[in-house]
Amino acid sequence: MGLVALLFFVVMRSGFCAGPMSDREIEAYLETMEAPSRRYNNVERAEGAYLRDLVRRLRAKRVLEIGTSTGYSGIWMAMGLRQTGGRLITIEYNRERYASAAANFTAAGLTEFVDARHADAVQEVPGIEGPLDLVFLDAVPGDNLLYYGIVLPKMRRGGAIVAHNVRSHPADMVQFLKVIGSDPAVKTEIVTPGRQGFSVSWVK
Ligand SMILES: C[S@@+](CC[C@H](N)C(=O)[O-])C[C@H]1O[C@@H](n2cnc3c(N)ncnc32)[C@H](O)[C@@H]1O
Repeated sequence: MGLVALLFFVVMRSGFCAGPMSDREIEAYLETMEAPSRRYNNVERAEGAYLRDLVRRLRAKRVLEIGTSTGYSGIWMAMGLRQTGGRLITIEYNRERYASAAANFTAAGLTEFVDARHADAVQEVPGIEGPLDLVFLDAVPGDNLLYYGIVLPKMRRGGAIVAHNVRSHPADMVQFLKVIGSDPAVKTEIVTPGRQGFSVSWVK
């Protein structure tokens, strides 16, 4: 946690501001994360807001994120889950990023809505039970096809599998995009709330 974020946390959690943080307060906290977020290739602000709104639109209760990083996108989704009464499982194998994410979820007052796991997603994801309402793929683009094959049978009808960086890293996604574009089990669209691009595969 950086100095600005730490100060924010101390003020917000002091006696001045009792009770849960409002969405606006959480958004202000997210702002303190944004400069370092770019270093970690986290989602952009507009992309985070899109994910939160998607959680609400799906009335999602069970959400899986592969690639937590420092928890930036996770906080956006957890904001939506606070409203739907759901929970996010998010997986990160880098120890420092996992620790940083855990601190950020605490600072945003959202730990109740997040199950943050320090694990290798390749080993962890097969053991996660469905049904899942929303899956966000944001680890290594070359692994997306592997994760897609594992999570698709666990998805509820009408749920969505979202992958990040389809515009910013198309070369790494050729095979994945080909599969999700032609798989009759899903209907895929590309959306660009930010510059990096999401594929959104709606499960039939
Ligand atoms: C682009 S960052 C995720 C950004 C995050 N979703 C956000 O927007 O705030 C990708 C993360 O995936 C993690 N990662 C890559 N492969 C992984 C694996 N097999 N298991 C767990 N984490 C993995 C990396 O360590 C990295 O922190």
